[in-house]
Amino acid sequence: MKKIVAINASPRVEWNTSTLVREASKGAEAEGAQVKVFDLYELEKFTGCIACFGCKLPGHLGACAYKDGLAEVLEEIRDADGLIIGTPNYLGDASAAFRALYERLVFQYITYKKEPANYNKRSIPVLLIMTSNCAEAQYPQRGYDKVLETYQNMLSNMVGPTKVLICGETLQVDDYSIYNWTKYDPEVKKARHEEVFPGKMKDAFELGAEMVRV
Ligand SMILES: Cc1cc2nc3c(=O)[nH]c(=O)nc-3n(C[C@H](O)[C@H](O)[C@H](O)COP(=O)(O)O)c2cc1C
Repeated sequence: MKKIVAINASPRVEWNTSTLVREASKGAEAEGAQVKVFDLYELEKFTGCIACFGCKLPGHLGACAYKDGLAEVLEEIRDADGLIIGTPNYLGDASAAFRALYERLVFQYITYKKEPANYNKRSIPVLLIMTSNCAEAQYPQRGYDKVLETYQNMLSNMVGPTKVLICGETLQVDDYSIYNWTKYDPEVKKARHEEVFPGKMKDAFELGAEMVRV
């Protein structure tokens, strides 16, 4: 049975990112995989890479040596057949928790040798999901497409072939009326959540299923 690790890198465990990560997980389960889901902000305290270089020492080669809340997640990913990871767009980038995991996940595999360049011997499919206020069509204009491309390339090189799903114009809160926000039309946001978001859930489900089928 294939084992998939699914990660929600949003602090909100029942909102947009988490929902899409969990839909992708359901897709993987529908194809017979076993899925372990982590909500990063629910874990014990963790940091990004602390540059201890333990992952470059004999005994730890290719495995992050630092023991904190991310240790179990990294161990599960090293042993997995696929990785689903979702993050909200925070200030044009991924969330801080995503960055922490990304640093530790990728850096452990970098050998600092000409050959081989990667300690990771098991290339696994990756699904990277990003949700945002900004519409998908605005990504190029805001430079968000380049940010995602950088993550996609690095993950593809170091972890395995990476697909990207973007879900823009998400519903940010249940009740817009209590905030003095003039930028968004709550009715438009609600309508999009009801009409477009279910389609994104389907896309996530299908991509999760496809990950197991490959
Ligand atoms: C700290 C913070 C920064 C954000 N920055 C951006 C941004 O730069 N661009 C954008 O399109 N959306 C931005 N957003 C909106 C979120 O990306 C969007 O609401 C996302 O879907 C939230 O995911 P969640 O519902 O899973 O928490 C920001 C939200 C927060 C809380």
